[in-house]
Amino acid sequence: MPHSSRLAIVPGSFDPLTNGHVDLVHRAAGLFDRVIVALLVNAGKQPLFSLAEREAMARAVFADVPGVEVDAFDGLLVEYARRRGAHAVVRGVQSAADLDYEAPMARMNRHLASSVDTVFLLPSEGLGFISSRLVKEVAGLGGAIDALVPPAVAARMAERSARTRTLKA
Ligand code: PNS
Repeated sequence: MPHSSRLAIVPGSFDPLTNGHVDLVHRAAGLFDRVIVALLVNAGKQPLFSLAEREAMARAVFADVPGVEVDAFDGLLVEYARRRGAHAVVRGVQSAADLDYEAPMARMNRHLASSVDTVFLLPSEGLGFISSRLVKEVAGLGGAIDALVPPAVAARMAERSARTRTLKA
């Protein structure tokens, strides 16, 4: 059988991108020939950063990572996966609770498109406590997030907090 390049999609809100996400994308890039980091508007969440801002941060972070592309989409994930010719969707899970959130989505995606499998990866040791939600909470309350997100994201978060403080003053 001829070798065809294996493509995975890492979808998410990435609001904002954390070191946990970066680890996940690097792990996916080690397993697949090509990886698309696919950002979207999650209808169930009110984002801190616009899609364009999140995309710009992701492009800055993954600019030099071979085989990794950043894109944005709306609509069904499986439709996007089909359009891009992806073989798998990769999601990070840190806990049983994460798997409870992920499993129905993975099953629904399999129901909609049986050819696209979901692959779950565990984060590196030391990154398992990081989530976008907690990063936003800590940053919003003035805590340090530099060890939790890439420098490009930390800079944007600091800018955003400064602007919010100016508006409140
Ligand atoms: O980072 P998030 O917000 O937890 O990611 C959620 C995501 C992107 C995986 C999920 O909201 C999604 O796949 N949305 C696309 C719309 C879709 O296909 N919905 C049906 C999937 S069950």
